[in-house]
Amino acid sequence: MENIKQIVEKRISSRKFTGEDLSVSEIKEINKIINRKIKTPFGSNFVFKLIDKNDFHKNKKIKLGTYGFISNGRYFIVGKSPSEMEAFVDYGYALERVVLDITAISLGSCWLGGTFNRKKFNETVKLKDGEVIPSVIVTGRAYQKRSIREKITRASVKADQRKDFKELFFEGNFETPFDPGSGKIKEALNMLRLAPSAENGQPWRVLSQKNKFSFYLRRKKIIDMVIKKVDLHMVDMGIAMSHFELTLNENGIKGFWKKETNHCKQENLEYIASWVMNNDKIFQN
Ligand SMILES: Cc1cc2nc3c(=O)[nH]c(=O)nc-3n(C[C@H](O)[C@H](O)[C@H](O)COP(=O)(O)O)c2cc1C
Repeated sequence: MENIKQIVEKRISSRKFTGEDLSVSEIKEINKIINRKIKTPFGSNFVFKLIDKNDFHKNKKIKLGTYGFISNGRYFIVGKSPSEMEAFVDYGYALERVVLDITAISLGSCWLGGTFNRKKFNETVKLKDGEVIPSVIVTGRAYQKRSIREKITRASVKADQRKDFKELFFEGNFETPFDPGSGKIKEALNMLRLAPSAENGQPWRVLSQKNKFSFYLRRKKIIDMVIKKVDLHMVDMGIAMSHFELTLNENGIKGFWKKETNHCKQENLEYIASWVMNNDKIFQN
């Protein structure tokens, strides 16, 4: 079985699928993954559904689509959430756990926050007032070779690149880059850095203070302008938080999420939450 590092390194957005049927056992496995109860940072619970577009189209006249960005996208994992910031963080956190698990069973996936027809997808989950679909996951068997369209999409958001450590992680204050040494903390931050984010915006900033890691958001205006109904930045934050925590947990370092009232304030950064280590003796790697 692969460890979290191997799975995170294996995951990459896939936008070209074969469109073939998944086997009965694969469908069963996906359903098991999406039905698992996941403890989220702010305590939200979600119900995720696997939708086979082919079946859906047989029963309804509504056509689910991805504006041509995904070829042969057929299986979708869809959930809904109250339109609230903390719930969006939790949604990203919970659904990324699903993404990592389906990566482990060698299925392709891509988060979709912009390039899917929201109105039509709203029909797949009955939305109540104040609820939205923050994002969906397209999954299935993916081609290794990328389509030209996919190559263009990846190039336009520089999907293979990640910001430097010193741009993302700080110690004590936001002037001092964090040097985590070479151990478990470094590995967790590296796994965080590999997280997917909308338009590869990498809006996460982390401030390390003793046994605590505080997560902050740096907004990118273009994302807020294009996607108005949901806060994709918050979804990105939840995704990164899950990579960070899962890696530490697998290395035997446990902690909990806490929203602090006396957190450090910094211009242009929004405080989200802090991860506090249970036992600070193991803090030094
Ligand atoms: C919340 C979220 C929304 C995204 N929305 C889209 C989308 O609408 N269309 C798309 O093609 N890719 C979308 N992506 C995928 C990102 O472009 C991709 O994760 C990023 O470029 C990094 O590439 P990688 O996932 O291959 O590491 C989204 C990713 C996230 C996390």
